[in-house]
Amino acid sequence: MNTDRFPAFVAAMTALVARTGDEPTLLREGRALLTALVRHDDWLPDRAAVARDDRYAQHLLHRDPQGRFSVVSFVWGPGHRTPVHDHTVWGLVGVMRGAERCEECSVADGAPRLSGHAHVMQPGDVEAVSPTVGDWHRVSSARDDGLSISIHVYGADIGQLRRHRLDDRGAVIDFVSGYDSLPAC
Ligand SMILES: [Fe+2]
Repeated sequence: MNTDRFPAFVAAMTALVARTGDEPTLLREGRALLTALVRHDDWLPDRAAVARDDRYAQHLLHRDPQGRFSVVSFVWGPGHRTPVHDHTVWGLVGVMRGAERCEECSVADGAPRLSGHAHVMQPGDVEAVSPTVGDWHRVSSARDDGLSISIHVYGADIGQLRRHRLDDRGAVIDFVSGYDSLPAC
Protein backbone atom coordinates (compact mmCIF):
# COMPACT_ATOMS: atom_id res chain seq x y z
CA MET A 1 0.00 0.00 0.00
CA ASN A 2 1.28 3.45 -0.93
CA THR A 3 1.07 5.62 2.20
CA ASP A 4 2.53 8.76 0.60
CA ARG A 5 0.08 9.29 -2.23
CA PHE A 6 -2.96 10.53 -0.29
CA PRO A 7 -1.07 12.87 2.09
CA ALA A 8 0.63 14.39 -0.96
CA PHE A 9 -2.78 14.92 -2.58
CA VAL A 10 -4.13 16.60 0.58
CA ALA A 11 -1.06 18.83 0.77
CA ALA A 12 -1.47 19.88 -2.87
CA MET A 13 -5.21 20.54 -2.42
CA THR A 14 -4.50 22.54 0.75
CA ALA A 15 -1.97 24.66 -1.11
CA LEU A 16 -4.48 25.17 -3.93
CA VAL A 17 -7.37 26.38 -1.72
CA ALA A 18 -4.91 28.58 0.21
CA ARG A 19 -3.80 30.19 -3.05
CA THR A 20 -7.17 30.82 -4.69
CA GLY A 21 -10.90 30.78 -4.18
CA ASP A 22 -11.56 31.15 -7.89
CA GLU A 23 -13.84 28.28 -8.86
CA PRO A 24 -12.64 27.75 -12.45
CA THR A 25 -9.05 27.56 -11.18
CA LEU A 26 -10.03 25.21 -8.34
CA LEU A 27 -11.87 22.90 -10.74
CA ARG A 28 -9.11 22.93 -13.36
CA GLU A 29 -6.18 22.38 -11.01
CA GLY A 30 -8.16 20.16 -8.62
CA ARG A 31 -9.18 17.98 -11.58
CA ALA A 32 -5.53 17.44 -12.49
CA LEU A 33 -4.69 16.49 -8.89
CA LEU A 34 -7.67 14.12 -8.54
CA THR A 35 -7.00 12.52 -11.93
CA ALA A 36 -3.45 11.73 -10.81
CA LEU A 37 -4.75 10.34 -7.48
CA VAL A 38 -7.42 7.97 -8.86
CA ARG A 39 -5.10 6.68 -11.59
CA HIS A 40 -3.48 4.60 -8.85
CA ASP A 41 -5.62 2.18 -6.82
CA ASP A 42 -2.96 1.46 -4.21
CA TRP A 43 -3.51 3.93 -1.37
CA LEU A 44 -7.09 3.74 -0.06
CA PRO A 45 -7.27 2.49 3.56
CA ASP A 46 -9.38 -0.66 4.04
CA ARG A 47 -11.71 1.29 6.32
CA ALA A 48 -12.68 3.56 3.42
CA ALA A 49 -13.35 0.69 0.98
CA VAL A 50 -16.11 -0.93 3.08
CA ALA A 51 -19.55 -1.24 1.45
CA ARG A 52 -22.99 -1.18 3.03
CA ASP A 53 -25.71 -3.68 2.14
CA ASP A 54 -28.56 -1.18 2.03
CA ARG A 55 -27.06 1.71 0.08
CA TYR A 56 -23.81 3.33 -1.05
CA ALA A 57 -21.32 4.21 1.71
CA GLN A 58 -19.59 7.56 2.28
CA HIS A 59 -16.29 7.48 4.19
CA LEU A 60 -14.63 10.76 5.12
CA LEU A 61 -10.95 10.71 4.14
CA HIS A 62 -9.97 14.28 4.99
CA ARG A 63 -11.63 17.40 6.30
CA ASP A 64 -9.73 20.66 5.88
CA PRO A 65 -9.38 22.22 9.35
CA GLN A 66 -10.61 25.52 7.91
CA GLY A 67 -13.55 23.83 6.14
CA ARG A 68 -12.33 24.81 2.67
CA PHE A 69 -12.62 21.29 1.26
CA SER A 70 -13.31 17.68 2.15
CA VAL A 71 -12.39 14.36 0.51
CA VAL A 72 -14.79 11.41 0.64
CA SER A 73 -14.63 7.81 -0.58
CA PHE A 74 -17.94 6.55 -2.04
CA VAL A 75 -18.37 2.77 -2.16
CA TRP A 76 -21.11 1.39 -4.40
CA GLY A 77 -22.52 -2.12 -4.58
CA PRO A 78 -24.60 -3.39 -7.50
CA GLY A 79 -27.95 -1.56 -7.59
CA HIS A 80 -26.88 1.25 -5.28
CA ARG A 81 -28.08 4.67 -6.43
CA THR A 82 -28.29 8.19 -5.04
CA PRO A 83 -31.46 10.24 -5.20
CA VAL A 84 -31.47 13.14 -7.64
CA HIS A 85 -29.46 15.67 -5.65
CA ASP A 86 -27.37 18.84 -5.68
CA HIS A 87 -24.16 19.85 -3.85
CA THR A 88 -24.40 23.68 -3.47
CA VAL A 89 -20.57 23.95 -3.65
CA TRP A 90 -17.94 22.99 -6.22
CA GLY A 91 -17.09 19.31 -6.38
CA LEU A 92 -14.93 16.83 -8.29
CA VAL A 93 -15.80 13.14 -8.72
CA GLY A 94 -13.12 10.65 -9.79
CA VAL A 95 -13.77 6.96 -10.37
CA MET A 96 -10.99 4.69 -9.08
CA ARG A 97 -12.51 1.18 -9.18
CA GLY A 98 -15.44 -0.34 -11.08
CA ALA A 99 -17.73 2.02 -12.98
CA GLU A 100 -20.47 4.54 -12.24
CA ARG A 101 -23.45 5.82 -14.21
CA CYS A 102 -24.16 9.54 -14.00
CA GLU A 103 -27.64 10.66 -15.05
CA GLU A 104 -27.74 14.30 -16.07
CA CYS A 105 -30.41 16.81 -15.06
CA SER A 106 -31.88 19.95 -16.50
CA VAL A 107 -33.21 22.74 -14.33
CA ALA A 108 -36.14 24.79 -15.65
CA ASP A 109 -37.81 27.46 -13.51
CA GLY A 110 -35.90 26.18 -10.49
CA ALA A 111 -37.25 22.63 -10.93
CA PRO A 112 -34.56 19.96 -11.51
CA ARG A 113 -35.54 16.96 -13.61
CA LEU A 114 -33.64 14.03 -15.12
CA SER A 115 -32.85 14.93 -18.72
CA GLY A 116 -32.79 11.36 -20.03
CA HIS A 117 -29.06 11.66 -20.81
CA ALA A 118 -26.53 9.56 -18.92
CA HIS A 119 -22.86 8.64 -19.18
CA VAL A 120 -20.70 5.97 -17.61
CA MET A 121 -17.49 6.89 -15.82
CA GLN A 122 -14.58 4.46 -15.86
CA PRO A 123 -11.47 4.36 -13.61
CA GLY A 124 -9.43 7.53 -14.15
CA ASP A 125 -12.43 9.58 -15.28
CA VAL A 126 -13.06 12.82 -13.33
CA GLU A 127 -15.93 15.24 -13.65
CA ALA A 128 -16.99 18.48 -11.98
CA VAL A 129 -20.19 19.69 -10.36
CA SER A 130 -21.16 23.10 -8.97
CA PRO A 131 -24.02 25.54 -9.08
CA THR A 132 -22.28 27.27 -12.01
CA VAL A 133 -21.24 24.24 -14.13
CA GLY A 134 -24.29 22.05 -13.30
CA ASP A 135 -25.13 20.84 -9.82
CA TRP A 136 -27.95 18.28 -10.08
CA HIS A 137 -27.50 14.64 -11.02
CA ARG A 138 -28.20 11.04 -10.02
CA VAL A 139 -25.34 8.57 -9.66
CA SER A 140 -25.42 4.79 -9.50
CA SER A 141 -23.18 1.77 -9.78
CA ALA A 142 -22.70 0.75 -13.42
CA ARG A 143 -21.55 -2.74 -12.43
CA ASP A 144 -23.69 -5.87 -12.06
CA ASP A 145 -21.17 -7.39 -9.67
CA GLY A 146 -18.35 -6.22 -7.43
CA LEU A 147 -17.84 -2.84 -5.84
CA SER A 148 -17.23 0.50 -7.44
CA ILE A 149 -15.28 3.20 -5.61
CA SER A 150 -15.04 6.90 -6.40
CA ILE A 151 -13.12 9.66 -4.66
CA HIS A 152 -14.94 12.98 -4.26
CA VAL A 153 -13.56 16.41 -3.37
CA TYR A 154 -15.94 19.19 -2.36
CA GLY A 155 -15.50 22.84 -1.50
CA ALA A 156 -16.90 22.41 2.01
CA ASP A 157 -17.36 19.79 4.74
CA ILE A 158 -19.92 18.11 2.49
CA GLY A 159 -21.31 15.69 5.08
CA GLN A 160 -22.41 18.58 7.28
CA LEU A 161 -23.88 20.69 4.50
CA ARG A 162 -27.63 21.22 4.11
CA ARG A 163 -28.43 20.62 0.45
CA HIS A 164 -31.28 19.31 -1.66
CA ARG A 165 -32.70 16.21 -3.27
CA LEU A 166 -35.89 15.13 -4.98
CA ASP A 167 -38.29 12.95 -3.03
CA ASP A 168 -40.34 10.12 -4.57
CA ARG A 169 -42.90 12.60 -5.91
CA GLY A 170 -40.30 14.91 -7.46
CA ALA A 171 -40.48 17.60 -4.77
CA VAL A 172 -37.27 19.34 -3.67
CA ILE A 173 -36.46 18.59 -0.01
CA ASP A 174 -33.46 19.35 2.24
CA PHE A 175 -30.99 16.67 3.32
CA VAL A 176 -27.64 16.35 5.14
CA SER A 177 -25.62 13.31 4.03
CA GLY A 178 -23.36 12.78 7.05
CA TYR A 179 -20.58 10.17 6.85
CA ASP A 180 -20.49 6.41 7.42
CA SER A 181 -17.00 6.53 8.90
CA LEU A 182 -14.38 9.08 9.87
CA PRO A 183 -10.57 9.01 9.78
CA ALA A 184 -8.97 7.46 12.86
CA CYS A 185 -7.29 10.76 13.70
FE1 LIG B 1 -23.39 14.11 -6.43
